[in-house]
Amino acid sequence: MTKPSALSYRPVAIILHWLVALFVISTVPAGIIMLEEGLARSVQDRLFIFHKNIGVVIFLLVIARIVFRAFNPPPPLPSSIPVLQRHVASATHIGLYGLLLIMTISGYVYVIAGGFPIEGLDAIGVPHLVPEDEGLSKSALSIHLAARFVLIALVFAHVGAALYHWLIRRDGVFERMAPMLRRSSQR
Ligand code: HEM
Ligand code: HEM
Repeated sequence: MTKPSALSYRPVAIILHWLVALFVISTVPAGIIMLEEGLARSVQDRLFIFHKNIGVVIFLLVIARIVFRAFNPPPPLPSSIPVLQRHVASATHIGLYGLLLIMTISGYVYVIAGGFPIEGLDAIGVPHLVPEDEGLSKSALSIHLAARFVLIALVFAHVGAALYHWLIRRDGVFERMAPMLRRSSQR
């Protein structure tokens, strides 16, 4: 019998995954609602502050995840998973990492180049990494707005696939990221 630890992601990877998932799933609606017309100014300000600062936290967590992954590769997938599906899964995961970096960096550049604050970074005195430049700010915004559709589509595909494995295939793939839900027959 294989030990569950050999079948699952490591605890650090699992904690980073679920933190990023929680923050992404909350920052997307915040990003959309904060731009709604007729929203009370105080609510809008709070959503902007939440969206920008959680975005910076997502960036740091994604970098930590990528570095951790480089030294701790994911556990092998069950042998029942066909080769094509393995390739699609890893392409989706690479796409998710790439888009999270694109979204967070473009958001940062849009805000800093536009001369707006990022409260958390400003409070601890982090210097601005890009100059104020209207053209740069506008280009970064175009990237931010275009990439959001791709990220949202990939997240839907990813969550759909995870739920399919958990509820329909019941092949232990979902439990790699949620080992506490592993059934005794999968250990
Ligand atoms: C994974 C991280 C992020 C995601 C998924 C995300 C997603 C979004 C979404 C969905 C919108 C709404 C666009 C619309 O409906 O028109 C938006 C807008 C915005 N985001 Fe982000 N964002 C992220 C990170 C960031 C970061 C790090 C910053 C800045 C530090 C930022 C700053 C902004 C700003 C200022 C807007 C408003 C744009 C406008 O005025 O049209 N975002 N973002
Ligand atoms: C409720 C929502 C989610 C569920 C149920 C879920 C589930 C899972 C599962 C089961 C895996 C492991 C797949 C495998 O073993 O091959 C995984 C991996 C992954 N998930 Fe999620 N996920 C969710 C949300 C998200 C979100 C919002 C993101 C980022 C936008 C994300 C990014 C990733 C990445 C990048 C991996 C690959 C991990 C690696 O190998 O480094 N997930 N997810």
